[in-house]
Amino acid sequence: MDSKIIKGFSKKNKTEKIDWIIKNYLNNDYSYKDFLKSYWHTDSKTQKLHDEFIENTISNFYIPLGVAPNFKINDKIYCVPMAIEESSVVAASAKSASFWLNRGGFKATVISMIKIGHVHFAWHGNYDKLRTVFEKIKPKFYSDTDNLTANMQKRGGGILDIQLINKSDLEPNYYQLMAKFDTKDSMGANFINSLLEEFSKTLKRELANDHTLTDTEKEVQIIMCILSNYTPECIVKSEVSCKVEELTEGTDMSADLFVEKFKQAVHIATIEPYRATTHNKGIYNGIDSVVIATGNDFRAVEASGHTYAAKDGQYRSLTHVEVKNGIFKFWIEVPMALGTVGGLTKLHPMVKFAYDLLGNPNAEDLMKITATVGLAQNFGALRSLVTTGIQKGHMKMHLLNILNQLGASDEEKKTFVEEFKTKTVTHKAVVDLFNQIRKN
Ligand code: MEV
Repeated sequence: MDSKIIKGFSKKNKTEKIDWIIKNYLNNDYSYKDFLKSYWHTDSKTQKLHDEFIENTISNFYIPLGVAPNFKINDKIYCVPMAIEESSVVAASAKSASFWLNRGGFKATVISMIKIGHVHFAWHGNYDKLRTVFEKIKPKFYSDTDNLTANMQKRGGGILDIQLINKSDLEPNYYQLMAKFDTKDSMGANFINSLLEEFSKTLKRELANDHTLTDTEKEVQIIMCILSNYTPECIVKSEVSCKVEELTEGTDMSADLFVEKFKQAVHIATIEPYRATTHNKGIYNGIDSVVIATGNDFRAVEASGHTYAAKDGQYRSLTHVEVKNGIFKFWIEVPMALGTVGGLTKLHPMVKFAYDLLGNPNAEDLMKITATVGLAQNFGALRSLVTTGIQKGHMKMHLLNILNQLGASDEEKKTFVEEFKTKTVTHKAVVDLFNQIRKN
């Protein structure tokens, strides 16, 4: 067997795993071991916690945790934690937050909190008969899962609805049980998936025992039971507004020109998928970084947002702008399934810190904060794009990355930051000056 292939890797302990990797992939260079260990937490209990989040942990992968202060959301001030590697994201959010702080702040509302899951199944027979049997057995889906829903019901949540969906026009013999849930402050993935698996058992049992069905109709093939990360009924909206003339106060750009270009930028992202993708990517720079810092599932949140952006058949901007009677209004409406209990939320020490910093919000408040950061991020990006261009701010933030790559000292970094305050940062300009200074 090729030495790069292994059976039972997960059974090895952490040190054995590292040794095996070094031996088989890293030319027996044991300096890698010290390197990986240098990223272990000094407190072994904390490290063990991280080790157990996933399988085959060998070390930790750091990304910075920053904060964007001055976010005024529904008249409350937040200092928002953001975990992200991209240089200019936190700076852009913080700048937008300060901008809107003096213009009334952000107003956010949760429109709905419903989550959805499906039992996907194949069934052969007369659909009207299936429909009749489904209506008859519907209460059993609830009663068979009483033990699983009891706690959630105490918190005011549970199963909201179960429907039979006929998808046989898309795929012969394909049907679904589509269930809707209220999972309160939990993201609810385990709750939903466990219930769906129970529903599938009830469906199988009840069809098998129904005397109105033929032998073929008594058979059901459960294909899979899984929640949907598309949550078009778990929606949050955040908006800002101000008088048009307030938009460019303190700058030499006319407010009318700014608004015109800003509206065009949003319109382009609404009609042109190439731009819409980048536009929405910028929104998720903000959203993801809060979602990561608060221990939620950024892949789920993003996937849902992108599907929502394409809900009418074309991928479009998630933000919208309107100017009426001299008032500029800019808003975002996004799906966002977040939890503030369960999952990593109470386990990961940094996530716990993030919640403390935010004043321990419930899921609705976290949805509002997160969507607001997405809106702020997009406002910041568009403002730069239609005025100075994005590179000015980007490259200023990227300057430190270039200097770190070059191995610059703290003193040198200070000199460069000062030097480039009034100059355009380009990779070449920084490298040239660096080489010149080192030579001297
Ligand atoms: C970069 O990460 C994000 C932007 O490209 C977003 C945008 O263009 O709107 C600046």
